[in-house]
Amino acid sequence: MQFYLAPLEGITGYIYRNAIHDYYGHGMDKYFTPFLTPHTKCSFNAKELNDITPEHNQGMYTVPQVLTNSAEDFLRIEKDLRALGYEEININLGCPSGTVASKGRGAGFLAETQKLDRFLEEIFAGTNAKISLKTRIGIDDPEDFYELLDIYNKYTLEELIIHPRVLREYYKGTPHWEIFDYAVKNSKNTLCYNGDIFSVADYQRLQDEILKQNNGHKVHAIMLGRGILQNPALIEQLVQYEQNGIKEHDFDKSRFKMFHDRLRNDYMTQMSGDMNVLYKMKELWFYMIMLFPNQEKVLKKIKKAKKLAEYDAAVRELF
Ligand SMILES: Cc1cc2nc3c(=O)[nH]c(=O)nc-3n(C[C@H](O)[C@H](O)[C@H](O)COP(=O)(O)O)c2cc1C
Repeated sequence: MQFYLAPLEGITGYIYRNAIHDYYGHGMDKYFTPFLTPHTKCSFNAKELNDITPEHNQGMYTVPQVLTNSAEDFLRIEKDLRALGYEEININLGCPSGTVASKGRGAGFLAETQKLDRFLEEIFAGTNAKISLKTRIGIDDPEDFYELLDIYNKYTLEELIIHPRVLREYYKGTPHWEIFDYAVKNSKNTLCYNGDIFSVADYQRLQDEILKQNNGHKVHAIMLGRGILQNPALIEQLVQYEQNGIKEHDFDKSRFKMFHDRLRNDYMTQMSGDMNVLYKMKELWFYMIMLFPNQEKVLKKIKKAKKLAEYDAAVRELF
């Protein structure tokens, strides 16, 4: 099985990806960038270019993700991405955010199946890049997916990454494994599963319920997002489970501390002012606190910190 880092806008930028790669990258096969949106006058703004520039992505397999519903814009950005050396590009058909979906992009695009089909047709006629799709299963009804899969089956994708929730569910409830199972049985493209794998036990359950009947090894990859944010060693633990059946792991606090310090220091170098760094680190602690059960009091101190010195003191106390 291959393992991928999911794109997480505002979190898995190049600083996070590099830190994961250096401290927990063993077993990570692909790193997806948060979505890039084509701009009217240029493909990338300075922040986006900074994220995808090859010098910030050395030694890892990075896949840029594009969010658009215009084939013309996609083909323009695709040329610029290829000029930077990228041969594989992912298209976002899953973003549920109101501002994106209301413009018919991300998961919003799934409501316009004819337009989506035309978009893919134009893209495949005009590109030599390897194209993968990251898709939700519909807008309101999980059974929307049957029609979507008929469309996806018309194209030769690098892979089809499925987050089996509909747009309206955002991240609530549980993923619709029965729909993913339908994809395993009916997709002409190879599949990557994404959604709510937070532990070895979750992965084991996915294996038992879906992957064991994996039709011709059609599911060749698992993409993880919040599970990695909560526990960066998760991929390594899944690999160990696959190779040796190991299910229990000790928390390597000193490695996690080095990973944390690397992130903090790299954000310091990249961003101006304590507040921006604090914002980034606090957002991560929302997930990382899972590694420190019953430490709500110290987490409160981290959240309340207004200066980096206060933040550092709270983190020292936590460790
Ligand atoms: C804060 C946040 C930002 C996200 N940004 C993106 C994004 O830029 N592109 C994308 O395709 N999905 C994005 N997602 C969705 C994730 O890639 C992933 O599909 C989702 O979190 C489910 O996987 P998980 O349960 O492993 O986290 C985002 C999710 C979150 C929580």
